[in-house]
Amino acid sequence: MTLRVNGATLGVAGVKGFGGGFAGACGTEFGEPEMKAFVRHTKELAARLEHSLASLAADAKVALLHDAPVKGTLLGERLEVYPFLGSYLLGEAVDRAGADLVLHGHAHRGKEKAATPGGIHVRNVALPVLKRAFGLYHLDR
Ligand SMILES: [Fe+2]
Repeated sequence: MTLRVNGATLGVAGVKGFGGGFAGACGTEFGEPEMKAFVRHTKELAARLEHSLASLAADAKVALLHDAPVKGTLLGERLEVYPFLGSYLLGEAVDRAGADLVLHGHAHRGKEKAATPGGIHVRNVALPVLKRAFGLYHLDR
């Protein structure tokens, strides 16, 4: 969706996201059918996110996810659960399509701030991380 805010347009594209892990320690579409389905689900959601973000015509774009697109906001979580907290495919989709900010939750023991490999701001806004009901982020345009 696109919103008009103070004379500018804000585009928001969101998908739930899914697990799969992060580059160098991720699931692949190989082997058992259940594992293939798991990874395929993440790939489909990442493709939908990329398409939705790329389709937005807006002055600023926000990607809205449940699962994490980078492992930087997972610091504090147990390494064993990283593959169930997000997927690097979501981060790659954001970098290809372009965005100004990525918001996600799900990682309750993670940290607030990180960035995609392409340098896009990522914020983990899970309530136990923020320790408040909302976060306020300024998009400087
Ligand atoms: Fe969750």
